[in-house]
Amino acid sequence: MNPVDLSFRFFPGGSLGEFNLTRELSTVLSHGKGSKVYDVFGKEFIDFSISWGSVILGHAHPAIIKAVKKQIGKGSSFSYITEQALGLAEELNRAIPCAEKIRFAASGTEATFYAIRFARAFTGKTKVVKFEGAYHGAHDIGVMSLFPQSLLPFPQPEPTSAGISKQIEKEVIIAPYNDLGTTQELMEKNEGEIACVIMEPLQRCTPPVRGFLEGIRKITQEKGILLIFDEVVTGFRLAYGGAQEYYGVVPDLAAFGKALGGGHPIGAICGRADILDLCAESNLGGEAYVWFASTLAGNPVSAAASLATLKELRKPGTYERLHDLGRKLREGFQILLRELEIPGQVLGDGPLCQVLFTERPVIDYRTAFLADRQKARKFALRLFEKGIFLNPMGTKLYLSLAHTDEDIQKLIDISRKALEEM
Ligand SMILES: Cc1ncc(COP(=O)(O)O)c(C=O)c1O
Repeated sequence: MNPVDLSFRFFPGGSLGEFNLTRELSTVLSHGKGSKVYDVFGKEFIDFSISWGSVILGHAHPAIIKAVKKQIGKGSSFSYITEQALGLAEELNRAIPCAEKIRFAASGTEATFYAIRFARAFTGKTKVVKFEGAYHGAHDIGVMSLFPQSLLPFPQPEPTSAGISKQIEKEVIIAPYNDLGTTQELMEKNEGEIACVIMEPLQRCTPPVRGFLEGIRKITQEKGILLIFDEVVTGFRLAYGGAQEYYGVVPDLAAFGKALGGGHPIGAICGRADILDLCAESNLGGEAYVWFASTLAGNPVSAAASLATLKELRKPGTYERLHDLGRKLREGFQILLRELEIPGQVLGDGPLCQVLFTERPVIDYRTAFLADRQKARKFALRLFEKGIFLNPMGTKLYLSLAHTDEDIQKLIDISRKALEEM
C-alpha cells in the first residue's frame, strides 16, 4: 500500500496530531539534514517547522548525534538522577533567571501542567488566568479558548477540545492579551481566588506591548498571585535565558520544552525554591504536597542531547544570528506584501515569523481573528506544495541555526509565486 494511504489507514486525519494537510499534499518523511527534510518519494523540502521549533540547531546536528550515541550505550532511562540530568540542571540554574530549582518532565504539556499544579498547591487557590489564543499544551487548561470561534465576553472560556469537564471552565479566567486594564479588572473581580497567571510572554507570534509584562508582574506580586511564563517556545530561542532574560521580567515559575531538547523529548519546570520544594517526597501527606512523577523525565539521552544543544547555543554570535535570520525573513515578507499590494501583517520576534492577511495591526487573538484565515490556509498549502515544509494548522514559521540566507530568499521567492497564483 502507498505510504500515504497507510498513514490515513492508521492515523486519524493521517497525522500524528494537529498538522491538517490535505490528503493530496500529505506525505511520509524519511530523514532530515540541517534545514531540509526529505520524504520517502525523494522530494526535498526546506523545513520551516523544525519539529514545531524543537530542532533549533537543524536536523541531525553532529554534536547531538555524538552526545546521544555516547550516552545511549550506557543506558537510556533510569527514572533517577544521572550525571547528565544533574549537569543539565546546573546549566538551567545558570541560564534562566527564575530557575532556583528544577524538575524535569517529558514534554512541554507536562511542564505547564505541573507549573499550574505547583501554583495551586502553593497559593491554596484554584482559579487560573489564561490569555485568549495562547497555547499551553494539550491538557484541559492549555486548550481553553485556544482557537475560540464565538468570541464570548471576557472572562468566559470556550474549550477548543471536547472531553473537558464543565468544572474546568469555572476555574479558568480568560483575559485579552496585551490589555492590562481589562486583565487587572478581571483579577480584581476574582480577588482571593486566583492561583496564577499563565502566559506566553510572546504570545504565539504577537509581541507584548510596552509595559504589559511588567504590569502583569506588578499586579500579580501585589495580589499574591503566581506568575508562570510558558517558555516552551521562547526558551533558548529569544535569548539563552529565554523571554525572562529578553524582556527583563522574571516570573515565579517557568515551563520549558522544545528547543531545550534539540529535538529530543524533554520538559522542565523551573522556579522559586519555596514553590518547587513542595514536591519533595518528605512532604507527602502535607496539605500543600505536590505529587510529581514522570517515568522518562530527565532521562540521560534527552539530557545529553540537551547539554549538547545548549553548548552549541552558548557559542558567540548564536542569538545575533537567530535574530538576524528572523529579521531578514520578516522584512522579506513585508517587502513582498507591499510589492504585491496585499494587505498583511508580519508578526514575530527572534527566529519566529507569521504572516496574517489583515490590514489592521495585530495585538491579540481578536485582532488576529479578523485576518483572512482561508487565504492563510490556501497560502500555506501552496507553499507546502512548492517544497516548503510547514504546519498549515499553525502557520508559525520557525528558523534554526542551520537555515541560511539562501533558504530565506527561496521562501520569499516561492511565496511570491504562490501569492501571484492565488
Ligand atoms: C507555548 C507552548 N506551550 C506548551 C506547548 C506544549 O508542548 P508539547 O507539545 O511538547 O507538549 C506548546 C507546543 O506547541 C507551546 O507552543
